[in-house]
Amino acid sequence: MVSDIAVGALAGAAATALLQRLLAGPLSRQRHSRIPQKVKRVTSPNPDWKPGDNVGHPFENNARLQIEPHEGASTMYPFIISSVIPRPIGFVCSLSKEGARNLSPYSYFNVMSHDPPYICIGGCATSGRPSKMKDTQQNLMETKEFTINLISEWFVEAAHHTCGNYDRGVDEVELSGLTPVPSVKVKPPRIDESAVQFECILRDTYDVKNEKGDVTCTILIGEVILVHVLEAVTARTAHNHVIVDLDKYAPVSRMGGDSYARLTEYYDIPRPGKEWQDRSAAVVKA
Ligand SMILES: Cc1cc2nc3c(=O)[nH]c(=O)nc-3n(C[C@H](O)[C@H](O)[C@H](O)COP(=O)(O)O)c2cc1C
Repeated sequence: MVSDIAVGALAGAAATALLQRLLAGPLSRQRHSRIPQKVKRVTSPNPDWKPGDNVGHPFENNARLQIEPHEGASTMYPFIISSVIPRPIGFVCSLSKEGARNLSPYSYFNVMSHDPPYICIGGCATSGRPSKMKDTQQNLMETKEFTINLISEWFVEAAHHTCGNYDRGVDEVELSGLTPVPSVKVKPPRIDESAVQFECILRDTYDVKNEKGDVTCTILIGEVILVHVLEAVTARTAHNHVIVDLDKYAPVSRMGGDSYARLTEYYDIPRPGKEWQDRSAAVVKA
């Protein structure tokens, strides 16, 4: 009887250990992830606006400061990153020519076309390296291949953790605990937590120079050669084209300082048709 209880207890412990082992795999990530909340559709800020209405701005004081960009990076940096908002974030995974893996967020980032999709990343020069290049830029220039992993709220803290000024060769995928998955057409992996992943090839670079002639940033221009999208965040248009469903995606945008922002509301403003190009006709129509 006693030994039956002992065997039962042992079997129970083994089952618990097995369950814990299973939970330590992909399922354990889900414990921290919540299904994103619905993004609310609202009316646009001035729904009664008509062509020709003068809206002005809401402030009494109309005085303006003028800032010369060449006053220096320290002046422009906080201004640019706090005014050009919200910015999407390209979470770039790359390999050095020796094969060392790297992962970092870049918010000087956007898509510039769709046929085919081209993206740009601004790699700012760093004084911390003899080459003055951040690892991402050096890797892209060395190997030409990278992945962009768009960031959703469920892994934003882990993604942010990769931005530390870590030594070259530090693997931020491993450091953050994010999950690498093999890509199909390029060597750098994709990040499994990301709902939208692009496999990319570096097509061109453009060096931005300051007044002294120093390269202060390099614009890295890449072509997206394969897209992966988690089916769970997709929807279909009336023409059956795949799009991303806002209610599932929980996109993250970058603001000034250390701030990020969440998308909670959106509104539609239909594109004006040709009939609106003549203001007088448009006023009559309205
Ligand atoms: C959200 C976010 C966006 C960033 N955007 C940029 C950027 O556009 N350009 C840049 O040079 N650094 C940017 N950084 C800083 C880099 O991520 C940081 O310097 C990182 O250490 C670079 O890593 P790497 O040397 O591995 O490429 C950003 C940091 C964060 C947190």
